[in-house]
Amino acid sequence: MAVQQTLSILKPDATRRNLTGRINALIEASGLRIVAQKRLLLARAQAEAFYAEHRERPFFASLCATMSEGPVVVQVLEGEDAIPRYRTVMGATNPTVADPGTIRREFAESIEANSVHGSDSLATANREIAFFFSQTELVG
Ligand code: CMP
Repeated sequence: MAVQQTLSILKPDATRRNLTGRINALIEASGLRIVAQKRLLLARAQAEAFYAEHRERPFFASLCATMSEGPVVVQVLEGEDAIPRYRTVMGATNPTVADPGTIRREFAESIEANSVHGSDSLATANREIAFFFSQTELVG
């Protein structure tokens, strides 16, 4: 086990429905600590840059539009094995197959408006955290 940091985004479908507190309660109950947090309105170009690895996917344009249609909460989570732990708490990308009790199963509207994002590897976490935060903004 190792202490890791991972990037979490509470997506516009979650902020619109006032779910940030309930989602973060599940995150904190899993043992993860929120060590940085800000609420932002992503410009379309920022969403496109953040999701650049998906630019060839058929859902790319729609995903970027959805991510910039309302506020997001971007945050850094820290804890033992934070990257896989948070992915377990989130549940599968598609909420219809996510396990009961996971964030996406409980709250997601669809595979696209799926309430939360989380980094999928150490390299991705490092890149995604640096996309939104400087090291001095991470406060354990
Ligand atoms: P996220 O974890 O933020 O990573 C990429 C996002 O693309 C994903 O969550 C979903 O919001 C979206 N996504 C992934 N697969 C699909 C799909 N098949 N159709 C629509 N959106 C998708």
